[in-house]
Formats: sequence, structure tokens, C-alpha cells
Amino acid sequence: MLAEKYPEEVKKIFAKYPPENLRSAVMPLLYLAQRGEGFVTKAALEDIAQMLDITSTEVAEIVGFYTLYHDEKAGKYRMQVCTDLPCALRGADKFLEELCGNLGIKVGETTPDGMITVEEVMCLAGCDKAPMFQIQSPDGIAYHENMTVDKTMELVATLRKSGKEVK
Ligand code: FES
Repeated sequence: MLAEKYPEEVKKIFAKYPPENLRSAVMPLLYLAQRGEGFVTKAALEDIAQMLDITSTEVAEIVGFYTLYHDEKAGKYRMQVCTDLPCALRGADKFLEELCGNLGIKVGETTPDGMITVEEVMCLAGCDKAPMFQIQSPDGIAYHENMTVDKTMELVATLRKSGKEVK
């Protein structure tokens, strides 16, 4: 239960919203729920729904809509490559295909060492700097723009070696 695991944080989040708009706390609560495991468990999803007096379907819709929320476990680093149209015009599809080939996985899969999950996402607001991706990790989020497969594999090697995000 979120309120038992993070009592202070939950209290602070609740204090930001008037009781009649408490449902707006859903996003910070999801962020909190995701902190430990890197994804929102079904139990956490139901817990949040109960806390805010909304349905678990409503909470699940938010998780499904935003690329920063996840309902499944992944590798330590989520590499989210934008393949939306402007990026596709700058070679994002080819970049993604070659990157996955180098990593020996398909889009959506995780490398056998559990370090890298590659995901395909929509616009990340770096359209003129494709190929680009963001990495979500326990260290936060970092953008990597104007990337090549070689540069990305160097980054992957660094992540595997140091276990830390490079910004
Ligand atoms: S279309 Fe890829 S960042 Fe905007």
C-alpha cells in the first residue's frame, strides 16, 4: 500500500489538491508507485484508484497514455526511440532496426543481461535532432540526440560497465 510505504510523500501530494479535485493527484501517485519497481503493479494501480475514489480503469488509461508510466517490468534502462513521422524522415526507423539488430533483441524486448529495453515511442519534442531517444532509468531521464548506432552502442557499453546513466 502506497500510503504505508511512502506516508510522508503521499501526505505531501494530497496536501497539494483540494478534496473536490483529489483525483488530480493520480499522476504524482503513479510516479511514486513506479519508483521502486520501475513500473506500476496491478496492486498499486488498484490502491491508487481506491485512494482517489476513481476506477482502476481510469488509472490504467493514464498509465497507458503516457510514455513515462509503465505497467510491465523492463530492463534497468528503458531506451525510448522516437519513430514518429518527423524522426522517421530523418532515418529513425532504420536506426531502430539496426540498433535492435546490434543488441540482439526486437522492439519491446530486454537484453538478456536485463540492462536495456528498447521501446518505440511517439514525439519526444526533439524532432530536428533525430535519430533521438530518451533513457528512463533509476537516475532519471536523459535525452540523446543526433545519435548513430555506433554512438548508441558506445553508450550501452558505458551503461553496462558503470551501471550509471550518462548525460
Ligand atoms: S517526431 Fe520524433 S521527437 Fe518529434
